[in-house]
Amino acid sequence: MKITIDTDREILVCDSKAGLQSLPLYSDAAFTILSRQWLKVGWNQKYPYTFSWMGRPIIQLPEDVIRIQEVIWRLKPDVILETGVAHGGSMIFYASLCKAMDHGRVIGIDIEIRPANRAAIECHPLGKNIKLVEGNSTAPEIVARAKGLVRPGESVLVILDSKHTKAHVRDELDAYHTLVTPDSYIVATDGIMQDLHDVPRGNPEWRDDNPSAAALEFSEAHPEFVLEEPARLFNESTLKANLTHWPGAYLRRLK
Ligand SMILES: C[S@@+](CC[C@H](N)C(=O)[O-])C[C@H]1O[C@@H](n2cnc3c(N)ncnc32)[C@H](O)[C@@H]1O
Repeated sequence: MKITIDTDREILVCDSKAGLQSLPLYSDAAFTILSRQWLKVGWNQKYPYTFSWMGRPIIQLPEDVIRIQEVIWRLKPDVILETGVAHGGSMIFYASLCKAMDHGRVIGIDIEIRPANRAAIECHPLGKNIKLVEGNSTAPEIVARAKGLVRPGESVLVILDSKHTKAHVRDELDAYHTLVTPDSYIVATDGIMQDLHDVPRGNPEWRDDNPSAAALEFSEAHPEFVLEEPARLFNESTLKANLTHWPGAYLRRLK
């Protein structure tokens, strides 16, 4: 694909397999094309590895962080369970929302929680509201231990951000979806991999082997869930599509 940006004439020309398209530069369609490419370049350059939340690195695109904040504010879940802790930034982020809402707590699962990361999370001012479980997120004993931390009747939001192969995410979906309460979500993050098969740090196999593929397969087998991006709580623009690393991620449990 060839994208030409002419700022003098205020046009964007996109030459792709679909043909030659000339668009007004200042248009939603041009924004979509530019954003898609920006996402790929930014991922390759490790842009998501440049942020922290209240002192801990958070490996996310800020847009996804703001969008999930909108979901958490609307749902106010009793429990936010995430697979994939890494440095703990997303744990601290969710715990900070729970503190601000005066509601909810966080459970994190990771196959390896390095001592320095564990100490930083547990000693953090928000650490009291976070429970960590160490082990493979799909191992039956780990699933049982994590589920044992949820009390009957509690509302639960689940975020899957551990190993991003289709098979692992599908196993996580099978293991944790029963926790998800009506109208809440299980979120299979990082489906952006499907668009990264042709970038230098990407992998051709990701075209099919990615979390979005697992979420789609799961939704076809589970009619009680629908693949649905949460509605925006505010939008005074004509833009509709999210700029995200989590395409095809949000599986909502029907009421
Ligand atoms: C992308 S990082 C998580 C980022 C974190 N959620 C954040 O926003 O900062 C992925 C994490 O998944 C963990 N992981 C990889 N395979 C796993 C598995 N089978 N079970 C649980 N965690 C796993 C890795 O150890 C790593 O810490």
